[in-house]
Amino acid sequence: MSNSDSVSGVQVFDDAEQVARAAADLFVRLSDEAVAERGTFSVALSGGTTPKRIYELLASDEYRARVKWANVHVFFGDERTVPPDHADSNYRMANEAMLSHVPLPAENVHRIDGVGDAAANASRYESEMRGYFGGGAQWPRLDLVMLGMGDDGHTASLFPGSAALGETGAWVVANWVEKFNTWRITLSAPAINNARHVVFLITGAGKADRLREVLKGERDTTRLPSQMIAPRDGTLAWLVDRAAASKLGDA
Ligand code: 6PG
Repeated sequence: MSNSDSVSGVQVFDDAEQVARAAADLFVRLSDEAVAERGTFSVALSGGTTPKRIYELLASDEYRARVKWANVHVFFGDERTVPPDHADSNYRMANEAMLSHVPLPAENVHRIDGVGDAAANASRYESEMRGYFGGGAQWPRLDLVMLGMGDDGHTASLFPGSAALGETGAWVVANWVEKFNTWRITLSAPAINNARHVVFLITGAGKADRLREVLKGERDTTRLPSQMIAPRDGTLAWLVDRAAASKLGDA
């Protein structure tokens, strides 16, 4: 049985720090496995605040040497439509917390351009991904997609009621987000669902009610886009802290 067979289901940890350590350990394990089997490890990072500590850990003395960075290709699950040095940029957060501190070749970092026309940037990013995964592929086969979940049930930049939820062909889309009055650029749900491994990282009591709805409530993907995430030939894990899991009962 491969190690990755155990990377499924809801795993509850005492606090956010333990979630971050479990996620960093998983990153090390899956990257090792991918590099041993296929020579490279492709990962889509998530934005938001939760993963920052994971990125810091991976860049720390404790973890840095355990990843074969030269073989890692970093993609992004979504991006805000801001320049890369903007406080809201997902790239900036990942770069400051991890990318600039690890021996990752610059050409292995695949950043989504947030400046200019969002639709054009989405399609350029899809072309870049196709260049990596092979133009003929129907969907990208990312080794790992890291995701967060907003307290409204969104994941990546797949927001409740937004147009991108209906995407059936594109890998990357520009998505108008009414609640923030802005465009976001995001992987589509089918692109995420073609990954080998997908991991949600969710912490804090503020996510508890929504997490219960997503995992235990009725299926309503328009209202709860996180419910769309279901890898068709891969694993799905939910790494959560006790506070976020507090409404799950015996899950
Ligand atoms: C983003 C994200 C988004 C995020 C959730 C959770 O760009 O904002 O990728 O999907 O993961 O909103 O964010 P927090 O970790 O900040 O709660």
